[in-house]
Amino acid sequence: MRAIITGVGHFVPDRKLTNKDLEQMVDTSDEWITTRTGIKERRILEKDKGTSYMGVKAAKMVLEQRGISADELDLILVSTATPDMMFPSTAALIQKELKATNCWGFDLSAGCAGFVCALATASQFIETGKYKKIMVIGADKMSSIVNYEDRNTCVLFGDAAGAVLLEPSNTDDLGIEDFLLYLDGSGDKSLYMAGGGSLMPATLETVDNQMHYLYQDGKTVFKFAVTNMADVSKKILEKNRLSGEDIKLFIPHQANLRIIDAAAKKMKINRDQFVINIENYGNTTTATIPLAMSEAYQEGRMQKGDWIVLSTFGAGYTWGSLLFKWAID
Ligand code: COA
Repeated sequence: MRAIITGVGHFVPDRKLTNKDLEQMVDTSDEWITTRTGIKERRILEKDKGTSYMGVKAAKMVLEQRGISADELDLILVSTATPDMMFPSTAALIQKELKATNCWGFDLSAGCAGFVCALATASQFIETGKYKKIMVIGADKMSSIVNYEDRNTCVLFGDAAGAVLLEPSNTDDLGIEDFLLYLDGSGDKSLYMAGGGSLMPATLETVDNQMHYLYQDGKTVFKFAVTNMADVSKKILEKNRLSGEDIKLFIPHQANLRIIDAAAKKMKINRDQFVINIENYGNTTTATIPLAMSEAYQEGRMQKGDWIVLSTFGAGYTWGSLLFKWAID
């Protein structure tokens, strides 16, 4: 049995934070941000709302599109690096709000790579025949952990959510064909948030030392991302005896336009085959891929039977690719 995507949706907050706005906040310029990252603006969620709010909105869009009610869901799997709180899980908060009364759920933590890890995980529950309807959500409120006095990071991130519905297919022709995922914890000093976990619970000192903000060694992460995103995408194509021309769309994690361009060049793939929307949203962490997929679908960029490759990387380091055939008419 194959797992197919039967619905895709997203949510972005209305409020825009533009490069011009950031020029008023830190020592930066629209020119620097545009040339170094490709980002023009990002969305920021209201202070009194959490990640689950966006996850619910994205999931509702999927349910409406598919024409089913929430109580038909078997499982809600949420990837996030910014849960509403340490516990209960964001999946539980979303379950409550959706009134999805016949399912269980959990959160999965894999930084920016979270959505692809969650999709791969969910596909196993479908392939075994255990479940029939799984809502996979990637959502992050990065504005809750970004230091808006640090120009190195505050220009990069935004808030968003994306979601897909996974169901079984009775043909072997469509759906998730393969995935390759990797974890290398030696990246733990390059991208992290030190405070708020069990090692360093919140104290006045952790707050004074700004340990509840995301920290990133941008240059190190950049090099890692270019190499690994290109390599893992090439590897999944080789393993499945496909070439770049066979793929309708590559949907990469949107962290920096230069990373996407460098990966495309390294893979010798035409840039038109990449879905790129970083200009409008920045890096929305685990939401970038489902958000880009949802927009590409709305724009009619994929047809039933098209090969799609997702490629991702993030904190850990965690990285990987997922190959599937589009299944929606
Ligand atoms: N505006 C103006 N100048 C800035 C700036 C900003 N927003 N941010 C950094 N700078 C400065 C730096 O302080 C540095 O100044 P210095 O040379 O005087 O020290 C200079 O610009 C160059 O910084 P550098 O780090 O070399 O820039 P870069 O070209 O590597 O771009 C990133 C920085 C963060 C955009 C880039 O490294 C990157 O995208 N890294 C990967 C990020 C990523 O993918 N993260 C998510 C993982 S999921």
